[in-house]
Amino acid sequence: MKDLDGKNIVITGGSYGLGLEIARAFLKEGANVFTIARNKEKLDVAVEDLGRDVRRGRRVEGYPCDVTDREGITATIDTIAAEKGGIDALINNAGIVIPGYFEKVTVDDFETVLRTNYLGAVYSIKAALPHLLEHPESAVTVTSSVLGYKGIFGYGTYSPTKFALIGLAEVMRAELKDRGVQVTVLCPPDTDTPGLAEERKTRPRETEAIAGTGGLADPADVAAKFMKGFKKGKFMVIAGLAINALYRINGISPRFADYVFDSMVKKERSKRA
Ligand SMILES: NC(=O)c1ccc[n+]([C@@H]2O[C@H](COP(=O)([O-])OP(=O)(O)OC[C@H]3O[C@@H](n4cnc5c(N)ncnc54)[C@H](OP(=O)(O)O)[C@@H]3O)[C@@H](O)[C@H]2O)c1
Repeated sequence: MKDLDGKNIVITGGSYGLGLEIARAFLKEGANVFTIARNKEKLDVAVEDLGRDVRRGRRVEGYPCDVTDREGITATIDTIAAEKGGIDALINNAGIVIPGYFEKVTVDDFETVLRTNYLGAVYSIKAALPHLLEHPESAVTVTSSVLGYKGIFGYGTYSPTKFALIGLAEVMRAELKDRGVQVTVLCPPDTDTPGLAEERKTRPRETEAIAGTGGLADPADVAAKFMKGFKKGKFMVIAGLAINALYRINGISPRFADYVFDSMVKKERSKRA
């Protein structure tokens, strides 16, 4: 999707973190942005902040809603489409992480993460697709992760939801490519957001040792890389050098990637022993 001027973009989870910077990137392209998140106060702050980047005649608005509320998200997306003259792109960004050893995380944790990261995206796409198909050119994006192509220590509840999003995106790309709907997957590296800061408080030390090797990306840089790929119509946007290398190495030899991560875990454990 090259020309975003005047396009209506719906972003879930655009009130802080990466979604906020993705919203800003769309506004800078001249789009209208309608962003959805649960906390109204934080949404209001985001809308005020983003207001500085709105081009003349364009708008940014916040819609408080939880993506796990199937009826609520459907009604919210329908309302945006009806009141704002349709939807050109849906950016699924809302996501949560509950890290922890498989033996310690609960089945409730699995369900919570699945409901937000995967089903939240399914509900949003289901609601948006009829509106997207009203336009000759439209787009759907899902936010996956390096954990969507490689299961890594400590991410039992999260990684499967990110694999699921890539699977869903592959199916949607195949089914919708002749109907003008671009499908894009964003895989951000570890990015400096409130979500990651929260996650780091509880992720296992072995996970921290692995993740620490990749550095920490700036959310605005990740959003810029996403925008570049999105405008080129790319399917997969892997927004970091180290995770791009892992994508390729894991594609050739997943056992080698396992060996590297297992060695990091072993080293971390021997330090503490
Ligand atoms: N940061 C990273 O290192 C990293 C790496 C790879 C992938 N990702 C993915 O990138 C996306 C953004 O991550 P982030 O680090 O920017 O997260 P974040 O800082 O926690 O921000 C999450 C955003 O999603 C919203 N949100 C969360 N749950 C929601 C729900 N049920 N319904 C509606 N909105 C919801 C939050 O607002 P409310 O709390 O007000 O709802 C907020 O706007 C996620 O999908 C994450 O999995 C992040």
